[in-house]
Amino acid sequence: MQNLMPAASASALPAILDQIHTDAQALFGQGRVASYIPALAEVPPRQFGIAVALVDGSTFSVGDAHTSFSLQSITKLFAFVLALKSVGDELWQRVGREPSGAAFNSMVQLETEKGIPRNPFINAGALVITDILTTRYAHLDYALLGALRRLTDDPELSWNARIARSERDTAHRNMAMAYFMKSYGNFVNDPELVLDNYCRQCATEMSCAQLAQATMFLANNGRDLRRDGSPDEQFLAADDARRVNALMLTCGAYDAAGDFAYRIGLPVKTGVGGGIVAIAPGIGTVAVWAPELDAKGNSVLGAFALEQLVLRTGWNHG
Ligand code: DON
Repeated sequence: MQNLMPAASASALPAILDQIHTDAQALFGQGRVASYIPALAEVPPRQFGIAVALVDGSTFSVGDAHTSFSLQSITKLFAFVLALKSVGDELWQRVGREPSGAAFNSMVQLETEKGIPRNPFINAGALVITDILTTRYAHLDYALLGALRRLTDDPELSWNARIARSERDTAHRNMAMAYFMKSYGNFVNDPELVLDNYCRQCATEMSCAQLAQATMFLANNGRDLRRDGSPDEQFLAADDARRVNALMLTCGAYDAAGDFAYRIGLPVKTGVGGGIVAIAPGIGTVAVWAPELDAKGNSVLGAFALEQLVLRTGWNHG
């Protein structure tokens, strides 16, 4: 299939997505559902959904695109955006913005780098962001949920309490990192409280269709497209949206960020629930979900689907 110009691609999208849906199913069985959070291990593995939302307001989806799944690390994107909106550039005093080249839950760099995590998307950096937000908001989980409910227009959107509990009961490594950062003076609140907030945050559930909608502001110069008749909202400053996309491109897939940039070339954020969201600035957003993960914790079918979509539409960063 030849590359399509963005303006011409919308009419071809249904056929492209159907073909990707068919082709992706050949990869079932190549990855493993995350099991280090016990409740996630119970998710039926052979599921696949993809949803596309374009900046003109049109939407497309196939497969299990309306099934809710555990966002996990994709929530780090929303937490980071909320922190950027509420404390601004001050946050860079406590977290870096360089790729780590290490696993999402690695702690080796923390010691040599004096408790300052490399970026806001690895677990250590996300914990610092949650610490910043815990200081800023008396009821953080509701502040975050409020923003997500508004972006998805879904007042029922929530976290899965069983998954949050399951992660909290087994969050030994994240706890270790939080206490370690506290020993360097880079953690303000009680790590136990921040971990409660972090685990609820990670257990937030939404579907691909909702995720594509919720991230629209990143493809649309910071503007969220309202669907309730009210004027579109400048959810994030346009320059900040561009910066968030840069961070997603360089750090959104952890130690696979280079591979994702090579294969897909779009800003992404992945999660161990099997979701990946990709941003095509000026064009739209793509959310994909398939729970089977590769060794680096990224969705096997999700990465395949995004690669195919980019090949067939020409939606590439470069
Ligand atoms: O903190 C954790 O380990 C999980 N709540 C999230 C990890 C995750 O999704 C990494 N992404 N691929």
